[in-house]
Amino acid sequence: MTIGRFEGRVAVVTGGASGIGRATVIRLLDEGASVVAADYNAATGAALVDDVAASAAGAEKRLRFVRTDVSVEADVAAAVSTALADFGRLDVMVNNAGVAGAFGPVEAIEVDDWDWTFGVLVRGVFVGVKHAARAFKAQGEGGAIVNTASVAGLRAGAGPLAYSTAKAGVINLTRGAALELAEDRVRVNCVCPGGINTPLLNQGVNEQAVGSLLDQVQPWPDHGRPDDIAAAICFLASDDARFVTGEALVVDGGLTISGGLRLPGAGGAGGRSMASFGAGMAPPGTTGVSKGSTGEAPVLRPPATT
Ligand code: NAI
Repeated sequence: MTIGRFEGRVAVVTGGASGIGRATVIRLLDEGASVVAADYNAATGAALVDDVAASAAGAEKRLRFVRTDVSVEADVAAAVSTALADFGRLDVMVNNAGVAGAFGPVEAIEVDDWDWTFGVLVRGVFVGVKHAARAFKAQGEGGAIVNTASVAGLRAGAGPLAYSTAKAGVINLTRGAALELAEDRVRVNCVCPGGINTPLLNQGVNEQAVGSLLDQVQPWPDHGRPDDIAAAICFLASDDARFVTGEALVVDGGLTISGGLRLPGAGGAGGRSMASFGAGMAPPGTTGVSKGSTGEAPVLRPPATT
């Protein structure tokens, strides 16, 4: 690890209380940054603050937790304002918060569930890019934005329909914003993780069992971990990536090059076979919306009988 790569730098990480976001917060702190972790879930946010205070001497002084709903513009603006007010600047914006969202057969998905999913996954990234861009332009020294997309945004069948469509949107939002902001030396990139063993995937299910299942989905012999994605995010956020912008960096142990999921049953009808993705053990055919690690219960509707 390159120690001190983010010394004196300030970052905001949405979805920073769990999984990939939490690993990114900890890595940024380890490498010298001050970090605002912005997350919907106040309980896991408090646990992050406690864990950092217990493990890394002094690092807690460089960490703030801000309870944030990324689908609400004012919340995201407030997280950026906290970075500016408490740490004096902004250098890195990581738009990472996510949920599995609406799932089930296309003919049964509720429009409200679809819109809610897009509110978190696409509007959340848009407002993060918007408020970071404002701060970076006012500062006049450039900046780095890293969005968390997914391999599900690159191909069909690697996630529920709404999730995959939203993540495809994040990839092109990244490219468009990179084009627009390049002249201000603001780099905009995204990561496309493969299957990573986080609470998003393993909630309601045994983490070890999900890990064993994930070991089988890609050519690499063992499954991806939050630290693997945090490392890629930190590369894109760092000066090591000075000339990288508009990139969608795939970090998936070879999943996409292998042609797709090798999970038993996740074949052509990926949208259906992935129906319970992120919603614990929802029975096949169930429709609803998973609210991920926010602390909110998923909405589960029984399979249609007609
Ligand atoms: P996670 O569930 O462990 O963490 C996601 C965090 O986002 C949670 O702390 C949650 O409270 C927060 N969050 C959700 N909705 C929010 C909202 N409206 N406002 C603020 N915070 C909110 O999940 P994980 O896996 O770490 O996910 C991080 C990102 O990585 C997500 O965008 C996800 O879609 C993406 N991803 C995950 C993959 C995986 O296999 N775990 C694969 C590809 C992408």
